[in-house]
Amino acid sequence: MSDNARTAAVVLAAGKGTRFRSDLAKVLHRAAGRTLVGHVLEALRPLGLGQVVVVVGHQAEDVTASVQASDLPGLTTVVQEEQHGTGHAVQVAMPALADDVDRVLVLPGDTPLLTAPTLERLLAAAQGSTAAMLTARLEDPTGYGRVLRDADGNVTGIVEQRDATDAQRAIDEINAGMYVVARDHLVAALGQLDTDNDQGELYLTDVVGILAGKGEPVAAFVTSEDEVAGVNDRRQLADAAAVLRRRHLDHLMTEVGVSVADPATTHLDVDVEVGRDAVLLPGTILESGTRIGERAVVGPNSHLTACQVGNDATVHSTRATEAVIGEHASVGPFTHLRPGTRLGVKSKAGAFVETKNAQIGDGSKVPHLAYLGDATVGEQVNIACGVITVNYDGFTKSHTTIEDGAFVGCDTMLVAPVTVGSGAFVAAGSTLTDDVPADALAIARARQVNKEGWAAERRRQHGR
Ligand code: UD1
Ligand code: CA
Repeated sequence: MSDNARTAAVVLAAGKGTRFRSDLAKVLHRAAGRTLVGHVLEALRPLGLGQVVVVVGHQAEDVTASVQASDLPGLTTVVQEEQHGTGHAVQVAMPALADDVDRVLVLPGDTPLLTAPTLERLLAAAQGSTAAMLTARLEDPTGYGRVLRDADGNVTGIVEQRDATDAQRAIDEINAGMYVVARDHLVAALGQLDTDNDQGELYLTDVVGILAGKGEPVAAFVTSEDEVAGVNDRRQLADAAAVLRRRHLDHLMTEVGVSVADPATTHLDVDVEVGRDAVLLPGTILESGTRIGERAVVGPNSHLTACQVGNDATVHSTRATEAVIGEHASVGPFTHLRPGTRLGVKSKAGAFVETKNAQIGDGSKVPHLAYLGDATVGEQVNIACGVITVNYDGFTKSHTTIEDGAFVGCDTMLVAPVTVGSGAFVAAGSTLTDDVPADALAIARARQVNKEGWAAERRRQHGR
């Protein structure tokens, strides 16, 4: 058979996924930050196939939008309006194939552990034969189709678990549901499918028996157990996600040089990047779009979503979303960085600090108990304990600007819009409603009054 440019993939993603008991189509459930079908598409990406046809049906619009977002070259979708089985799904896909396609790689949409090298080997195994299929020997083959072989070891067919005899169920070699078939032979065999089985469906698996019956050799490529795992329910989803996370951590530890103190409690989505000599401490969750710099220390107990963490930064017990944390910055513990936060080089956002849409310049410190929302803070600014930007009046959000080198004393309310000029000093306990000029002192609080003997007189009146 031919090269990859003349090979098309057909990905089956139309099923409902009844065993998930979900309102969401099965293939859109996520494992390690990516949809099930998305994982299959990523395994296809390095192959450079000429065409990828995804068969959608259940929640067709959402699945279509999701797979198109992958931007996989040559990807199109076809709709299988009613789902009459895997063989029916491929029948529906065939008219969408380009004229020059001469072999078809069929994949399920629910096998997120599949990798490109395994697919390469399957395609290589198909060279010179009409068809090849992927199989695996499992300790517990329950639920999978079993591979039938004759006395010489040649594949003769596949039988589904529910249609199998006890003797067939004892076979431990399972069908991964992944095949490469010469186009003309596939078309012919699809035309011979019937619904003579327990589910009354058109089974793609029967194609293998039909080809073998015609004397066409079907090569079987036996691969490792985890690559083929189909995800049919939520327990299998959790198991697959654990494998994906562990693979990614293994890659970071062995190829990049990242220390992971406790892989079991360190949950990284598959696209998260981490730099050399970074340290991930227990209880760390890093979600899609997050990038951690070299020598950074993240955790324990930090949960970052789509964040950029600079080299040498530390992020301890922190929740952060769409935040940019500068090099050598220090964050946490118990810090909440909301979208639009940018922390400069060597800056600090310490305990019980919340930020949102706030830029904090290089070397500036917010060590404890503060809320900075809709704020621009310059460089080398000191924001003392208990400072709050009063950014919302119930209708509109207003901006606070604190210029370079300013010092904002404890328990200051900055009633926005307001600007504190560079080098200015704001006295503790102030409620600022007016701008502070550069290098000025602002005191915005009532003067203290001391009444001599007042407390003693009160105690005397109460007889103490
Ligand atoms: C299938 C195989 C089984 C194999 C297993 C491997 C058949 C009959 N059985 O079983 O031999 O061991 O995969 O994981 O093929 N789909 C459609 N349209 C349909 C039906 C299904 O697009 O009409 C899609 C599903 O969304 C899914 C894939 O095909 O992504 C496989 O279907 P599923 O019902 O999960 O098949 P299994 O029972 O796992
Ligand atoms: Ca399945």
